[in-house]
Amino acid sequence: MCGIIGYTGPAQALDVLLAGLATLEYRGYDSAGVVVVDDAQAPALQVRKRQGKLSVLSGELSTEGLTGRTGLGHTRWATHGAPNDRNAHPHVSDDGAVAVIHNGIIENHAPLRAELTAAGHSFSSETDTEVVVQLVAAARAADPSLDLAAAVRLVVPRLEGAFSLAFVDRREPEVIVATRREAPLVLGRSQGSSLLASDIAGLLVHTREVEALLDGQVAVLTPRGVTVTDLDGAPAQGHRFTVDWDVAAAEKQGYEHFMRKEIHEQPTAVRETLLARTDAEGVLILDELRLDPAEFRAVDTVVIVACGTSFHAGMVAKYAIEHWAGIPVEVEIASEFRYRDPILSPHTLVVAVSQSGETADTLAAAAHAQEQRAKVVAVTNVVGSSLARRADAVLYTRAGPEIGVAGTKTFTTQIVALDVLALYLAQSRRALFPDECADHLARMEALPELIEQVLQCEPQVAELAQVFARSGYVMFVGRHVGLPIALEGALKLKEISYLHAEGFAAGEMKHGPIALIEPGGPVVALATRGHVRSKIVSNIAEVKARGAVVLAIATEGDTEIKEHADHVVYVPEVHELLYPILTVVPLQLLAYAMAVALDRDVDQPRNLAKTVTVE
Ligand code: F6R
Repeated sequence: MCGIIGYTGPAQALDVLLAGLATLEYRGYDSAGVVVVDDAQAPALQVRKRQGKLSVLSGELSTEGLTGRTGLGHTRWATHGAPNDRNAHPHVSDDGAVAVIHNGIIENHAPLRAELTAAGHSFSSETDTEVVVQLVAAARAADPSLDLAAAVRLVVPRLEGAFSLAFVDRREPEVIVATRREAPLVLGRSQGSSLLASDIAGLLVHTREVEALLDGQVAVLTPRGVTVTDLDGAPAQGHRFTVDWDVAAAEKQGYEHFMRKEIHEQPTAVRETLLARTDAEGVLILDELRLDPAEFRAVDTVVIVACGTSFHAGMVAKYAIEHWAGIPVEVEIASEFRYRDPILSPHTLVVAVSQSGETADTLAAAAHAQEQRAKVVAVTNVVGSSLARRADAVLYTRAGPEIGVAGTKTFTTQIVALDVLALYLAQSRRALFPDECADHLARMEALPELIEQVLQCEPQVAELAQVFARSGYVMFVGRHVGLPIALEGALKLKEISYLHAEGFAAGEMKHGPIALIEPGGPVVALATRGHVRSKIVSNIAEVKARGAVVLAIATEGDTEIKEHADHVVYVPEVHELLYPILTVVPLQLLAYAMAVALDRDVDQPRNLAKTVTVE
């Protein structure tokens, strides 16, 4: 959701803030703002904020400039209040002393606003955030002995909801105070400065040694250092770790869009995700295991919880876990799982899949599972993320930073990591012989090379995209492991092209969706070799009979498919369960090329944000 950056140190803060915001803009981009503390004789808060992308704000600031060595910056993904200048962050208290930036939602903002209004405070935005800064300023006004940190500690217990917050106060011009609850915030030190950000990407250019603030902690940043306390003011420590991403990975490196770069990074990302997955004896290992291997042996049910693209990766994994490990698997959307009464036991393994490791619903689903004594394995791309810290075991996807809002390399690496987990479970339960596990792993190790081959279809897909982009919708159909890929292909297309796109189980078409087919309407069919190929061919015939134009994704050497489909993109032959890692690639390329043809904002599509830290 919103991007947050803070800096206090020897340099001009504005430059650092704008550069930091540029790396975080993918989190939210309907408005942007900064506050820089003018550290002259009578310190003042200089606030500038603008609706629209960061470029609008930075364009204005390039002529104006703001001097000062402490400041905060924010890119917004609106929740309360329209995306306009007034509702953009930072928000300043009505006495002009304190400014805040916020990611998350203050759920009890309405009664707090009523209370503050009754006490004579005036509001200048429709946001939930503004109550926080008024409360902090009011706490200081009521008790002038309180410093900013003490006032924040007093106010936080009054807030309901999820948030990360950062404050500056003109009376303490070198100080930033930050706190969090269920929303990410990372701290770092570099060359006599202290920094904070909502995301590691915002700190990478400065340092790889980061400290993730934990729920209920308060950090005080000055140029001399960072101190962390709990809400009572007792010394505390966040979660310290070293980030192994490099800065170049978060740059476009000559590609016109991050999404295209990230699609092309999939061979490397998959290779990395598979690195060192076995010990010297060839036994599979997880990254962080806080569970006894005996507990894995005892697992009798797996429940996968995730959202969006990660949910589709979970759907793919169901086939592998059931087939290899022989354990029944349920896959559920995290926002649904968290509000029902699932029947879980200590032998249920809940697998929470989230590239960011910060998705509010997935975190809540994991917590819900742990409350019922189930064990949680996290599959995530972000070391030190909230999900990784909460889980009983972690499998990292090692895809490197993904900046494009549409998940691509994190999706394929999630499937790979989940397949490794499937083999791990099979190994623990002795459902497969060690040499069978090794064979499957060896097949997976061939995937990077095969993805390279699939990427060669880009020109063919780009040509088709020109034609498909002229139609109002695209349907995607698949069966078995092709079904989640049909859903994922449709999700990719709708989110970045804004075209209506829907994925269906091919066998369901005749039960309703086939009514949507119009002459010339495009249908993409996942038709690789396997036990359902002949079935999908029949489904292709059904839509062709109603005038659809069919693009089939098929296995190399399947020349017969050309008799059924209008266009064919081939992928190399692999084990049936591994096809999704190849077949999704042409669909990512198709969505990308169609979005470019329609002149969409590929990396920052409307209404979306990369990390969904609110419910
Ligand atoms: C779509 C996409 C989203 C995310 C979803 C969950 O391209 O990326 O659907 O998959 O918001 O995010 P994570 O994986 O961070 O939990």
